[in-house]
Amino acid sequence: MPETVFVLDFGAQYGQLIARRVRELGVYCEIVPHDTPWNTLSLRRPAALILSGGPESTLVEGAPAMDDAIAGSGVPLLGICYGMQLLARDVGATLVKLDHAEYGPASLVVADRQSPLFDGVPDESRVWMSHGDSVVSLPDGYRALGSTARCHVAAMGNVKKKTYGVQFHPEVVHTEYGRTILENFLGEVAGLARDWKMESFLERAIQEIRARVRREKVICALSGGVDSAVAATLVARAVGEQLTCVFVDHGLLRQREADEVLAACRELLHLNVVAVDAHERFLRALRGVADPERKRVIIGHEFIDVFEREAAKIRNVKYLVQGTLYPDVIESKTPQSKAGEKIKSHHNVGGLPEKMGFSLIEPLRSLFKDEVRELGRALGLPESVVRRQPFPGPGLAVRIIGDVTADRLEIVRAADAIVREEIDGASLDPHPWQYFAVLTPVRSVGVMGDGRTYGNLVAVRAITSEDGMTADWARLPHELLERISARIVNEVRGINRVAYDITTKPPATVEWE
Ligand code: XMP
Repeated sequence: MPETVFVLDFGAQYGQLIARRVRELGVYCEIVPHDTPWNTLSLRRPAALILSGGPESTLVEGAPAMDDAIAGSGVPLLGICYGMQLLARDVGATLVKLDHAEYGPASLVVADRQSPLFDGVPDESRVWMSHGDSVVSLPDGYRALGSTARCHVAAMGNVKKKTYGVQFHPEVVHTEYGRTILENFLGEVAGLARDWKMESFLERAIQEIRARVRREKVICALSGGVDSAVAATLVARAVGEQLTCVFVDHGLLRQREADEVLAACRELLHLNVVAVDAHERFLRALRGVADPERKRVIIGHEFIDVFEREAAKIRNVKYLVQGTLYPDVIESKTPQSKAGEKIKSHHNVGGLPEKMGFSLIEPLRSLFKDEVRELGRALGLPESVVRRQPFPGPGLAVRIIGDVTADRLEIVRAADAIVREEIDGASLDPHPWQYFAVLTPVRSVGVMGDGRTYGNLVAVRAITSEDGMTADWARLPHELLERISARIVNEVRGINRVAYDITTKPPATVEWE
């Protein structure tokens, strides 16, 4: 078993990011609930523990806590934000509620140059804060290691106990030396080897899937995207012929995509695939529907229906593989927790298995998109599959504002093909993360030849992003935008105007619907 660091999750917004950073630094890391008993945790022999941030205050009664035995276990500990406050509170430090919570950037001044935690961190550097309480004094054995203008104890440590706390978030990119600080904790404080790689994740995932599935049958819905391709290949690597993949072609894919997906899955990934052409059925169901939420729901239902029918043809299936990623899990969770409002009902976490009585296998649930790509490479998947840009499950239906018709699908498909062809052919650094065309119902006047036109507007969206959760619009060269625009108005019937979307996420989302 590799040396494992566990993140105790206190409900942090960035909890998974901590795990991801630790893995990037070459140490295997998993997240567990904050109240996991030490008896359970110790069986896995944690090499170090990180206590995450969380939305609560340690000053309120019933605040999420951890098993007392953890602090006395001798395992190196790093508390982040709420995690630091919990460590501080439990050793008798004084905490106060701030008059004004501190959010965003601050300048960290290192107070103790001897501390291994700040090796290689300059005397002053930018950190990212997000807290409402603050530690103001520490008990014996603990030293304040750094401060910011508004936070007297922004870092603390007890060298003997190998216990440290930071009030800021070292896991976010806005903390300039966050990576160095985590690296110091793992290497210098905890003495870990830092030799874990994605190949190790792969080995372990294969063993776990085998142990769980045994001789049972497994089914997987393929969408053509990276996630389901990687998830299916991983499971196929573990249980071979016991896995059947079902590819439901809903007719909302991009140009030539259905054929390419099938060819890649069968010939390159050697998956056992049943393909169903259901495009007419989806078009029928979507007729006259303009509301994006309804489109998603309809597509979800139709999909389940078709999939269910195919699954019923294979007897005794027990497991269903889903390529759920971590951002799907949090984005599906967070919106509802606030005021019961849903941002988008995408990602379809759940749904299928509950309705059909399958047990779920989600081998990618703890990974971010770029980690999935890395896993795909470790599985030996070709770049053409691994580098596919993200594509929404409901496909082009959410890139046509208004009704989805065969005609409009053809238009958006043609425009999208041009956008992709041009951007794929340009050498851009960084290469945009996702890029596509949106067909809008906006009509405007134009002139072509000697005639007046009244055509539709196509919007082009190209974004840079790390994981789709936040995004910036790509600064594409003007010449490239010019070529895209000229080609779209000349080659795509009914389009006489092209606009480039220059909004970030947030406040906009990546997709228009
Ligand atoms: P948004 O539009 O929410 O998109 O900023 C974030 C990422 O998710 C993709 N996306 C979806 N993926 N089903 C999916 O599987 C959906 O309904 C869906 N909606 C958006 C989007 O393409 C982007 O990569």
